[in-house]
Amino acid sequence: MVGIGPGSVDLMSPRALESLSKASVIVGYKTYIDLLGDLVEGKEVISTGMTREIERSAAAIERACAGYDVAFVSSGDPGVYGMAGLVLEMADRDQLSGKIDIEIIPGITSATASAARLGAPLMHDFTVISLSDLLTPWETIEKRLRAAAGGDFVVVLYNPASHRRVDQITRAREILLEHKSPGTPVGIVRNADREDEEVVITDLDNMLKYNIDMLSTVIVGNSATKRLGDFMVTPRGYRI
Ligand SMILES: C[S@@+](CC[C@H](N)C(=O)[O-])C[C@H]1O[C@@H](n2cnc3c(N)ncnc32)[C@H](O)[C@@H]1O
Repeated sequence: MVGIGPGSVDLMSPRALESLSKASVIVGYKTYIDLLGDLVEGKEVISTGMTREIERSAAAIERACAGYDVAFVSSGDPGVYGMAGLVLEMADRDQLSGKIDIEIIPGITSATASAARLGAPLMHDFTVISLSDLLTPWETIEKRLRAAAGGDFVVVLYNPASHRRVDQITRAREILLEHKSPGTPVGIVRNADREDEEVVITDLDNMLKYNIDMLSTVIVGNSATKRLGDFMVTPRGYRI
């Protein structure tokens, strides 16, 4: 399980690069395979579209069981809304312990890749919430949003919207506004570290005026978060 970070090769860890170079089979979602460019040259590539996660994981396990060195790539970190958990569950179901070795190689996840583009919004306690209700009931997501806002956490939103899921970000904003003020800074990073990167710093009041889609990560500040020039900063509490 290889985390390839947000996009460019120079943000991948040496361990991730080494595992890709050693692997004879590369498995992953097509968009992520494309990001790897010539790193996949000369290798067997198994790529599938979105929502084919179980199929992709089964293919990776099947090739590993056949004795191949497989790199199953995830964007960001494979253990953050990635494929690591599913592969471990499937390997456990199929009693593969001792038959294949599974290593999880971490990557820079979108929360920190996006935070770096915005400045330093995650300097204090933060929560990460996915707005995708494909696998999680929406009531659970609402409950977590409310708790995070009530606890004055900085809130990082993954999967904020897609072609089909357009209402969730509107509803999430309404829930956050139950506890956070309309002037709370909000950072929107789209395609962090990739071509067509977009970085916006706005506030809860105005955030829906900007493009937010499945390629975006949204970071909503806490009550102390402020805008400093081109940066969004959540103070840690130092007296300066
Ligand atoms: C299924 S999650 C995968 C997260 C990934 N495993 C990680 O650790 O970043 C997909 C979501 O990650 C976020 N994301 C992934 N790549 C991104 C990028 N380059 N820029 C901004 N957000 C990104 C978006 O919120 C997207 O909807």
